[in-house]
Amino acid sequence: MAEIGKDIYKAINYLNENKPLAIPTETVYGLAGNALNEEAVRQIYTVKERPLHNPLIVHMGIKDDIRKYVKEIPEKAHLLIDAFWPGPLTLLLPKKDIIPAITTSGKPDVAIRVPDHPITLELLNHLQFPLAAPSANPFGYISPTMPQHVQQQIGDKIPYILDGGICDKGIESTILGFKDGEPVVYRLGAVTQEALERIVGTIQFITKDNLAPVAPGMLSKHYSPTTHTVFTDDLNHTLASYAEKRIGLLLFNRKYPSNDIIHQEVLSQHADLDEAAHKLYAALHRLDACNLDVIIAERFPDTGIGKTINDKLERASK
Ligand code: TXA
Ligand code: MG
Repeated sequence: MAEIGKDIYKAINYLNENKPLAIPTETVYGLAGNALNEEAVRQIYTVKERPLHNPLIVHMGIKDDIRKYVKEIPEKAHLLIDAFWPGPLTLLLPKKDIIPAITTSGKPDVAIRVPDHPITLELLNHLQFPLAAPSANPFGYISPTMPQHVQQQIGDKIPYILDGGICDKGIESTILGFKDGEPVVYRLGAVTQEALERIVGTIQFITKDNLAPVAPGMLSKHYSPTTHTVFTDDLNHTLASYAEKRIGLLLFNRKYPSNDIIHQEVLSQHADLDEAAHKLYAALHRLDACNLDVIIAERFPDTGIGKTINDKLERASK
């Protein structure tokens, strides 16, 4: 199994040997390797069992380093960088040759961000290279938000998990690219539509209805528990159709009054959507470990980070 610890020098040694390891970010844990080294990146794909056509996000410690990796930065990208970095916003921008093709799966754009986590920023600032890191889960499964999730899922395949505690946001970064200088969101994440629009005005969204998936975070099935998962607007009605089954519930702010439910997860008793996002994946991991016939998740208020939660649950239930 992987060692779990806080020793950035140990992490640096493994990274210099091109061995992928897990790092904390404010969103979810990442499976990290030298983004400029083909062999290190190849190892990430292998450990994650991820198809090579699904590119990786590059993580830097310092905003200004973006000039080393990206050819052009549109005006609105500057505004977004000033507003959100370090933080959970990933930008898609035309890459320089220093980023190898394998890191972007041959795409002309690189996905890049500065994560907001003290131990990972310290690590990045000690390295001579940026870190490519997808979420540290096997392809398609729920993202890890604590070291134990990583240990359970891929602990036998990596030497080290850098322990940064429980991820603050608990949900992946928002991914945003540009079309003719105008921002386009490819994956809604921890930065909300409202927060983006306060900085750059109206934002377009790419959905699977108007484009082939550019960011496979847009794959319709993703972030999924192994247990069959249903996402509903009408809890009573859905419950009635699973009578006699072993049911687990994922709820916003109150328990369901019934003794027939095996396990209930209430994400925020105070109806706080940020708290709900922070706790979402850990709750799904626990539900998935209950040997249920079905997980039923209710729709969350469709505002702010609630939109992101609903999007993730929609994909988990496909
Ligand atoms: O919060 C996050 O973004 C976390 C932490 C570790 O930073 N990372 C993460 O990575 O969620 P991953 O690989 O699980 O999801 C990244 C998504 C994928 O759907 C990938 O296809 C898309 O970003 N992506 C990465 N590079 C891209 C590129 N050059 N063009 C289009 N999509 C890209
Ligand atoms: Mg992922």
